[in-house]
Amino acid sequence: MKNMEVKIFRKDQFDQNMDEIISAIKFFGYGDEDWCRKIIPGSQLFALAYNNGEFAGFGRTVGDGIRFSYIVDLNVRKSHQHQGIGTKLAQELAENSKTTFIELTNDPQFPWLKDFYLKAGFKLSEGEHVFKWPHK
Ligand SMILES: CC(C)(COP(=O)(O)OP(=O)(O)OC[C@H]1O[C@@H](n2cnc3c(N)ncnc32)[C@H](O)[C@@H]1OP(=O)(O)O)[C@@H](O)C(=O)NCCC(=O)NCCS
Repeated sequence: MKNMEVKIFRKDQFDQNMDEIISAIKFFGYGDEDWCRKIIPGSQLFALAYNNGEFAGFGRTVGDGIRFSYIVDLNVRKSHQHQGIGTKLAQELAENSKTTFIELTNDPQFPWLKDFYLKAGFKLSEGEHVFKWPHK
């Protein structure tokens, strides 16, 4: 997609990009600044998307950095949805997570999420409850 940029921040880049990360989390109303500062250190990666220079969405992973990563808090602004941004955020988070397993929310509250992740390139494992990213 033209003019879409996804910035990936790793743990050692959180401090120097703290304001940008906090404003992304706050944008979606998750919590205030103090709360943001508490959840950031437990994250592995942040992915922030910009569409024509405008903040469009974010997602993050939590995990141990070696065996498990969980993609959580994937959010795209309503005005920027259905342009491939959520897909790109999920793919970038998966591609940059060097863990054995990439797990995702497959919440029955959002039955379409399964198709969203399959369409984005994730593969269901046996038992159909864990998605895997086919690392290149
Ligand atoms: C989930 C979310 C991040 C997807 O972002 P997006 O940028 O619109 O996603 P994409 O444009 O990459 O969508 C790819 C495909 O996923 C599916 N999809 C995405 N959102 C969907 C929805 N709300 N309902 C049904 N299918 C959906 C569609 O097949 C879509 O293809 P289409 O645009 O050709 O119809 C966005 O809808 C969102 O922020 N939702 C609110 C928060 C949420 O539910 N997060 C997930 C749980 S943590």
